[in-house]
Amino acid sequence: METRPRVDAGPELLLGEARAGKLVLGGVPAQRLAAEFGTPLYVLDEDRVRERCRAYIRALHRHYPHGQVVYASKAFCCMAMCRLAHEEGLYLDVVSSGELATALRAGVPPAHLLVHGNNKTAGEIRDALRAGVGRIVVDNFYDLELLEALTRETGGSADVLLRLTPGIEPHTHEAIRTGGVDSKFGFGILGGTAREAVGRSREIPTLRLRGIHCHIGSQILDRAPFVQAAEAMMEFAAWMARDQGIALEDLDLGGGAGVRYLPDDPVLEIDEVIGAVADVVRQRARAAGLPLPRLLIEPGRSIVGDAGATLYTVGSIKSIPGIRTYVAVDGGMYENPRPALYQARYHSVLADRLDEAPAATVTIAGRCCESGDVLIRDARLPAPRPGDLLAVFSTGAYNYSMAGNYNRYPRPAVVFVGGGRARLAVVRETVDDVLARDVPPA
Ligand SMILES: Cc1ncc(COP(=O)(O)O)c(C=O)c1O
Repeated sequence: METRPRVDAGPELLLGEARAGKLVLGGVPAQRLAAEFGTPLYVLDEDRVRERCRAYIRALHRHYPHGQVVYASKAFCCMAMCRLAHEEGLYLDVVSSGELATALRAGVPPAHLLVHGNNKTAGEIRDALRAGVGRIVVDNFYDLELLEALTRETGGSADVLLRLTPGIEPHTHEAIRTGGVDSKFGFGILGGTAREAVGRSREIPTLRLRGIHCHIGSQILDRAPFVQAAEAMMEFAAWMARDQGIALEDLDLGGGAGVRYLPDDPVLEIDEVIGAVADVVRQRARAAGLPLPRLLIEPGRSIVGDAGATLYTVGSIKSIPGIRTYVAVDGGMYENPRPALYQARYHSVLADRLDEAPAATVTIAGRCCESGDVLIRDARLPAPRPGDLLAVFSTGAYNYSMAGNYNRYPRPAVVFVGGGRARLAVVRETVDDVLARDVPPA
């Protein structure tokens, strides 16, 4: 982990570059993107996303003989993104029939899909079985019951992983911590339910137990919890071999690597994390006399997070002397719920005024009917004016995918940029789209 030095000349750009004092993303001026596609607008730098995919694959191949990178599509899911991840050689993790259908329609082979979920419905499991997905990750005993009944019903079978909670509590917001004892996900290793789940899944003839999975949390900026999780999982694998005679085929350690949201945030070196985790797997496998499992990792945020930016138009500005200045933009918690959900912090610039020194500390507010609809507290900017274009960085993950229609705002469009060109990935919703499911009163 390293801390980046602060850049004094002009605001630091977490994406894109400055040309004549104006922000350019993927070679396209931000102003042009706003004029052509409107605001608010999600922009994704395609080259950076591809580079992140390649960096993961390189690191995994460098440190481990047999691995697979799986993109956690929940971070940002649309057909263009699923296709891109597939083109780069990644498998995909999907959680719902919606994510499953998106990946399939984007041309991802079903065998390259893993299906997650802590409360999969019978319909979702049927969809996964019908598609013939590569792996279904079993989260709990109810999942096992449903899988047993539905494979019997359809005459099919499934390759499964068991999701385990290894009892690791990484330093991240509690809402995105998932590997501890008190978690809604997975079978606990510490409480003994994980062992019970192995026994139970072996009794179901239509299920093939291929391995184990864990995902300890998200936005983790420290290598240690990943290493601890790998140790706990390999200890469990050793028990499976010793006690149950099962040689683990797949070890899936989930995602969770953090990204930079603020210029001073540390950078987690993926190569080092994968190297450290691969060492643990190798050493523990050797010590227990196990064949090396296939190692899967499921990055989401670290593939797309800092490759995204959102463009907004500044509207009303309200100064409360001695208290604060609210600068309202044309988006808000409906298209980026993260600040309201877990006090997420973001960095922003005025896209056409990069040469101007910051002169004001302002609060960037959204336009939803909640006082908590604040996107950024204490943003340092040149004094904003109505009509300015505001760029918020690191919005590539868990923004579009978490967006809703609160206040019946239509969701923004998504454009991919790269090499000086922009292409639409998701068309902006209209008010008609928002109303499309309403049954008009008689
Ligand atoms: C099972 C699983 N795998 C992978 C991920 C991706 O995590 P991240 O985006 O932090 O890499 C998540 C995120 O919630 C997850 O639940």
